[in-house]
Amino acid sequence: MVFDTVIRGAQVIDGSGGPIYTADVGILNGRIHDIAINLKGVAHEVINAAGLHLAPGFIDVHTHDDINVIDAASMPTKISQGVTTVIVGNCGISASPVHLTCAPPDPLNLLGQQHDFCYPKFSDYVAAVIRAQPSVNVGALVGHTAIRNNHMSELERSATAQELAAMCADLRQAMDDGALGLSSGLAYANAKQSSSEEVQAMTAELGRAGGIYTTHLRTEFDGILEAMDEAFITSKQGKVPLVISHLKCAGKGNWNRSEQLLNALELAAKKQTVGCDCYPYAASSSTLDLAQVTNDTDIFITWSEAEPDQAGRYLHEIAQHWQCDLIAAAKRLQPAGAVYYCMAEQDVANILRYPRTMIGSDGLPNDPHPHPRLWGTFPRVIGHYSRDTGLLPLPEAVHKMSGLSAKQFQLNGRGEIKIGNWADLVLFDYQNIRDLATFTNPKQVASGIEYVWVNGVLSYRPGQATPGRAGQFLFRQSPTTDTLLLKEKLYEH
Ligand code: ZN
Ligand code: CU
Repeated sequence: MVFDTVIRGAQVIDGSGGPIYTADVGILNGRIHDIAINLKGVAHEVINAAGLHLAPGFIDVHTHDDINVIDAASMPTKISQGVTTVIVGNCGISASPVHLTCAPPDPLNLLGQQHDFCYPKFSDYVAAVIRAQPSVNVGALVGHTAIRNNHMSELERSATAQELAAMCADLRQAMDDGALGLSSGLAYANAKQSSSEEVQAMTAELGRAGGIYTTHLRTEFDGILEAMDEAFITSKQGKVPLVISHLKCAGKGNWNRSEQLLNALELAAKKQTVGCDCYPYAASSSTLDLAQVTNDTDIFITWSEAEPDQAGRYLHEIAQHWQCDLIAAAKRLQPAGAVYYCMAEQDVANILRYPRTMIGSDGLPNDPHPHPRLWGTFPRVIGHYSRDTGLLPLPEAVHKMSGLSAKQFQLNGRGEIKIGNWADLVLFDYQNIRDLATFTNPKQVASGIEYVWVNGVLSYRPGQATPGRAGQFLFRQSPTTDTLLLKEKLYEH
């Protein structure tokens, strides 16, 4: 037997949540060809992995990398963390299907500028990703807000029947072309006025196509239980699996309610398929939202179009400097980005530990001073929350970043170290794995990630160039014939 690569003597964490074992793993033609104690055969490349841990490549289920996987396709932010697959299109915003006639509305502006949105059809986006050859695999959701903006003259209301029909047609086309599902961002002003009925019509369309629904809830503050109920109902009626995005207890008045939220989620799980994702930090980040401006906790301004010089300062400092109140200062900064220190550590820990929670970074790759989750999320879960604080046993921590995520998003052939699966793998040093990105110094590569393979191709070594760029576009499983045809056409050459 001649393998492309054999990884010898690794401590294998297979992603299923099961116990760690020692084995050799042989890679051939992009896949895991064999796993054995003393693997026979030769290989073009042999990696001595004694003392290192081998896990399935991490799946970042919550990203805003839509445009970056095309325009910055080497994706150092993710590949350096051991991430081999990103799910784009979360929080109601996606790069496609989008046609813009002016600047992108908030929070679509998190993804890029008007000229970056050049994918009116989902299939245009798929083709561009494949052409760009990103270093990670890409699965894509389409955003409710993005689609609303295609058909509605103003967004601060519900869609009319006619607009809704056009929105559903956009969704149907994207699903036919291989999208994984639909996301919503109902907390944002540009989707907040959409009625539950509007969202239900979309999830019903989604259900017919067999997609998944992810939602940034209508509120993450005091009314969160009601917002969760709405999500349970809309997904149940559409007969779609639900993922609640970046589940959190936001706002001081809402702290210590994580058990309540998790109980509600567990109760719903008895009747329907539900899950959630979260990032391992007690601060959130997004565009600067006037509804989230508060005196209770700090708000850090990461960028401002109107007042670029104020980026990198706290909102209360800016307000003091301008001698106005916080809201007035926030208005003057718009459009802007912010980090909100809005959570309690105990709630973050409870949610992370909950068995249905997957890890998603929610990293904002275009932010000039990004929240550290962009560069640190996955090493932090292992280094900080598994090794240092003991919150999560290592196999469970890895499961939340691989096997569980692949199962929820139906990424067949990924997420576990198993014969026949794609060779998406990360080899790391458990004693040294550590997120180095901080709130003050956020653009830092984590330590302890030693080797990353994507579809069998070596794609990351610290400080070294690698062949890489072997990511694939992940079409929704059990696709319609349309998707199969499209896939064939796009991969022909
Ligand atoms: Zn969100
Ligand atoms: Cu997000």
